[in-house]
Formats: sequence, structure tokens, C-alpha cells
Amino acid sequence: MSKKFMPKTPVDLAPPRDDPITMAELAKCDGEQTEKMYIAIKGTVFDVSHNHAAYGVGKGYHVFVGKDASRALGKSSLKPEDTSPDISWDYSTLTEKQLKVLDDWFTFFSNRYNIVGRVSDLPVKKEI
Ligand code: HEM
Repeated sequence: MSKKFMPKTPVDLAPPRDDPITMAELAKCDGEQTEKMYIAIKGTVFDVSHNHAAYGVGKGYHVFVGKDASRALGKSSLKPEDTSPDISWDYSTLTEKQLKVLDDWFTFFSNRYNIVGRVSDLPVKKEI
């Protein structure tokens, strides 16, 4: 596997869990309503609770917490139009290049954070 996205010091990861997690439950894992901080990428939920420096309340990347942040991560965006929970899960409009960026983030998170479940009710983008 490519070493490009490996952490400098190896991280001890638990076996990935496949528990269904609803959008509403995910929203509560925002470091405010509960102490847990979860971030989902393409429906896979990662537990980032221990990384307060990056994801804690008031920190730069807190905007990703408690939601599926696929759209924002793929677009390298911290803007509300990409991070607001009603749209942040929607990566259907991303370019090939942005989808590759998103997959690289998936690898980055997989190497650092435990997978605790899957979003069970991700909204499906309506076909026009
Ligand atoms: C001026 C622009 C930016 C600077 C200077 C910056 C800087 C950094 C630094 C220093 C790290 C830590 C790297 C490490 O732990 O080795 C980091 C991590 C990260 N950055 Fe940025 N960043 C910028 C913009 C962005 C944007 C626009 C996004 C939106 C996707 C983003 C998302 C992230 C994420 C998700 C992490 C990983 C945090 C973790 O889990 O450790 N960054 N950034």
C-alpha cells in the first residue's frame, strides 16, 4: 500500500465496525451534544474524538464533525455551502479530480481513525 497517507507514528486501530448510524445520531456526535466526534466519508463513519486539536469545538476542522463531510473534503472546502449538514453528504456533483481527492481523504482517515459504523439513511440525490 502507498505510504503517502500513513501517519508518522503507527496508529493502533480497532477492527472496523459496521453498526448502522442514522444521520440524526451522527449529528449528535459533534463534540457538543455528546463528547463523541464522528465524521463520515461516503457513509463510512470515523471516530475522531481524540483529535481535539483539529476537530474540537472552535477548531478549524470542527465544521466536518457530526456529519458526512464527503462534499467538503472532496472539494477541499471549509465553506458553509459545502459543509452544511443538508448538503455536506452530497458528492454527486464532484469532478473526477475531486473524487480522487475524496478517496485520498478516505485513505487518510482509514489509517488514523477507527471505523465505528455506516450511515444508514444517507439522503439519495433526486434524479431530475
Ligand atoms: C491555508 C490552508 C490550509 C492550511 C495551512 C492547512 C494546514 C493543515 C495542517 C498543518 C494539517 C496537519 C497535517 C498533519 O497532521 O500532518 C492539516 C490537516 C488537515 N486539513 Fe488542512 N490546511 C488548510 C486548508 C484545508 C482545507 C481547505 C481543508 C478542507 C478539506 C483542510 C482539511 C484538512 C483535514 C481534514 C486535515 C486532517 C486533520 C487530521 O485528521 O489530522 N485543510 N491542515
